[in-house]
Amino acid sequence: MKFFIDTANLAQIKEANELGILDGVTTNPSLMAKEGIKGTEAVMNHYKTICEMVDGDISAEVIATDFDGILEEGKKLAAIHPNIIVKVPMIKDGVKALKWFTDNGIKTNCTLVFSAGQAILAAKAGATYVSPFIGRIDDSGWDGVELIAQISQIYSIQGYKTQILAASIRSALHIVKCAEAGADVCTCPLDSILGLLKHPLTDIGLAKFLEDAKKTV
Ligand code: G3P
Repeated sequence: MKFFIDTANLAQIKEANELGILDGVTTNPSLMAKEGIKGTEAVMNHYKTICEMVDGDISAEVIATDFDGILEEGKKLAAIHPNIIVKVPMIKDGVKALKWFTDNGIKTNCTLVFSAGQAILAAKAGATYVSPFIGRIDDSGWDGVELIAQISQIYSIQGYKTQILAASIRSALHIVKCAEAGADVCTCPLDSILGLLKHPLTDIGLAKFLEDAKKTV
């Protein structure tokens, strides 16, 4: 399973990248706004900076919701860097645009996916990635990980090539459960990635080893 970081914060991207396990970055308009990035030029420059920092797929989201607008914006985003993945919402014109991008060699990430039916449409349109938002599904009383498992089973039966990118991750446990359920990628906040490191027995064991090591010098 690939690891992406889900942020537009450059310090966090740097920290995750330095761990040596980062395969890419996802962003969205909310994450860009959180970093105070304002104006089209600043947004484009921010994507460029991220592409220069991380050698992997970098998702950049379109704002337009009509077919022509999504195409125009997606082409501009794709021109920033060869690693840009154009992020398109799961709406009718979005599906049409996904197919156009697929036919024209532009890689895509279909975002705001909350059902298996939507994931089938994204795959049919040839999306490179499909992003089910598992944390938001859990928030509304459904089971996000179960959706990952269902999509994984459907894609395997049908031979769809679209990669399942589990998004809206809230914890280290989500990452483990998504790996188990067949996600190809998990895009996570830095805290959830670092959460994977933690186990009290590791801390206790290390303290004991260091204490005993003093007896050997
Ligand atoms: O990038 C999309 C997704 O990961 C958003 O997560 O935490 O806003 O539900 P969240």
